[in-house]
Amino acid sequence: MKRYILVIFAFIIGGSLLLESCRRVQYVLPPFGATFQVPAGWPAPKYDFSQNPLTPEGVELGRYLFYDGRLSKDGNYPCASCHEQVSAFTHEDHPLAHGYGGSHSNRNPPGIYNMAWYSEYFQDGGMKKLEDVYLSHVSAPNEMGETIENVIEKLKADSKYTSMFRAAFGDPMINADRMTKALSQFVLTMVSSNSKYDRVQRGEATFTLSEQLGYDIFKTKCATCHKEPLFTDFSYRNIGMPLDADLKDKGRQQVTGSGNDSLKFRVLSLRNAQSTRPFGHDGRFFSFTNLYMHYNSGVVNGPTTDPIVAGGIPLSNFEQGQLTAFLNTLTDSVLINDPRFKKPQ
Ligand code: HEC
Ligand code: HEC
Repeated sequence: MKRYILVIFAFIIGGSLLLESCRRVQYVLPPFGATFQVPAGWPAPKYDFSQNPLTPEGVELGRYLFYDGRLSKDGNYPCASCHEQVSAFTHEDHPLAHGYGGSHSNRNPPGIYNMAWYSEYFQDGGMKKLEDVYLSHVSAPNEMGETIENVIEKLKADSKYTSMFRAAFGDPMINADRMTKALSQFVLTMVSSNSKYDRVQRGEATFTLSEQLGYDIFKTKCATCHKEPLFTDFSYRNIGMPLDADLKDKGRQQVTGSGNDSLKFRVLSLRNAQSTRPFGHDGRFFSFTNLYMHYNSGVVNGPTTDPIVAGGIPLSNFEQGQLTAFLNTLTDSVLINDPRFKKPQ
């Protein structure tokens, strides 16, 4: 009898501990609604929400489209195939994205969170409108390989979309403009602002000693370009990565046509960096260590190399360890696990 009481007692204690731990990791996330939440201390977003106001129905439609293989020619390349939630909406472990028919895209996909703060897209700034990004992806033969007309026909044939477009836009018309707007509504809600770094800024957590030392090094050696709180200053710079002989990607020069922009790429955000390996526009750095070696001693000087990195950024082994501890605080496990971004069942 005594044993039974003990077992029951253990269940009660165990159960309440479990409940407590669930409660601790549960974040209260605002429902998607008419207002876009700007995290405290962040600049105003650049996206013009007045031409595409967020609605719960629009965001939900965007979520279905994001995970729908029918946006690609053979059904195998939905947006989510290259932008996976588990890797902060990029993909991990291979440098270039896999596209239609065994092809590869030309670049490593960046994580597509915090897009509301950008005014140009792609790492060379070649896209001025967020909605044009998707049209370019759908029709690129090495990405989704489909025509937009075919995509619209496929969506029209599915009655689920008829009712979802009606719910989002007031009538059941399905066209490219509405499809891309709904995708944007979903993408724009991917805000990454719940990393440990953010909790420290909000006074809800404290850095360990290594993380704090790493943050100090970061502020001295990296923050000019990787500017807080978005961890990019949105500029295009050449950090002395030599031209890849196969890809021949000259970055910003391909958009402006100016030799002054040769080998310049957008300063990538460091938020979730750890989850977005490999690093760099073509994913050539497989680890933080590879990248530190580049900044430390691999910078190739050319006419457009940024003066800040031209002489290299000295980083001792000790400093590298602290920097990694800091960079890991930028991983946002709330974003990566947020059920609102998961594949609809
Ligand atoms: C075949 C892989 C692939 C697919 C499928 C794909 N993307 Fe991308 N995406 C990329 C790559 C690669 C880039 C970076 C392009 C560049 O920098 O030139 C990118 C860039 C983006 C960007 C801009 C990011 C930035 O920082 O500028 C957004 C937003 C985006 N994709 C959303 C989507 C959406 C929505 C879909 C579905 C309609 C989609 N992607 C489908 C590979 C893909
Ligand atoms: C002169 C500006 C500049 C400075 C200083 C700088 N970076 Fe960068 N960083 C960039 C640019 C530009 C890129 C993108 C390069 C590319 O892909 O061509 C980049 C890319 C990265 C990436 C890859 C991110 C990804 O998702 O692929 C990491 C990580 C990184 N930097 C960390 C650091 C650290 C740590 C420091 C300080 C030791 C630092 N950077 C200093 C400009 C800079």
